[in-house]
Amino acid sequence: MAEWLRERGVIEPAGLIVLGSGWSGLAETAEPIGVWDYSGIPGLPETTTPGHPGRLMHVVWHGVTCVVLVGRWHVYEGHTFAEAALPGMLAHALRCRWLLSTNAAGGVASHLRVGDLVVAEDDVFLWNAKGFRQRAEERFSHVPRYSELLENAFDRAGNAVNVRFSKGVLAMMTGPCYETPAEVGMIRASGASVVSMSTVPESRWARLAGLNAAAVSCVTNLVPSSPLARIRHDEVLEVLGMSLAKAARLIERWLEDEYVRCASGRRCYGLA
Ligand code: HPA
Repeated sequence: MAEWLRERGVIEPAGLIVLGSGWSGLAETAEPIGVWDYSGIPGLPETTTPGHPGRLMHVVWHGVTCVVLVGRWHVYEGHTFAEAALPGMLAHALRCRWLLSTNAAGGVASHLRVGDLVVAEDDVFLWNAKGFRQRAEERFSHVPRYSELLENAFDRAGNAVNVRFSKGVLAMMTGPCYETPAEVGMIRASGASVVSMSTVPESRWARLAGLNAAAVSCVTNLVPSSPLARIRHDEVLEVLGMSLAKAARLIERWLEDEYVRCASGRRCYGLA
């Protein structure tokens, strides 16, 4: 898959961005160099969830050449955790310096409100997924943290464009159902601030491979406190649509940061 992209001119992009549920409009301001449907790229799964168009874009975005995966495939669509980690593997194979994941998430921490943005400092991965663990973790005894350099770039970007966000812990559940109140109790006890159905496999893979990773969640709902509360995917997409302008200001400014651009020409991140 990386070779196929290299043959089409995708040579050492600075980073790879994954746009999750409802985030796809974010890439509209990027200048495309090449755009391919996942279905035409060897090794990339197709997407079936509404709000996940399934397009890979090679773009220049605020001066940064990067790859954008517009839409995800998920474990709840029948993929393994290793397949869910493919964006991290692809970022590594393309020699990207960083991976930025975005997702829709349920707000667990009591201070969160619908529409809030949360930048991940850490994550909770409850799944001892065989293929994933064997392939990703055999050479490592611990998972590197999310990149402080990229987090600091978010602090600078947020201050510059006056977009508030909080930092917290991202938990992943497999879906496709939203969590039961009992599961919410477990997630809350784990210390997670937000819960999503994605991101953690790709991010862990990238971190284990030596890339810098960041993740931004948009809180599309608060996790249900009563068994009667219902969350719907179309409402998740609608809320994300309303928060996208704010998220775009933050991420576009983040792309302009010199740590993210590596404007100085030195390899400021990761890969040896
Ligand atoms: N749980 C899991 N994933 C989600 C949620 C949620 O409440 N909202 C959006 N994605």
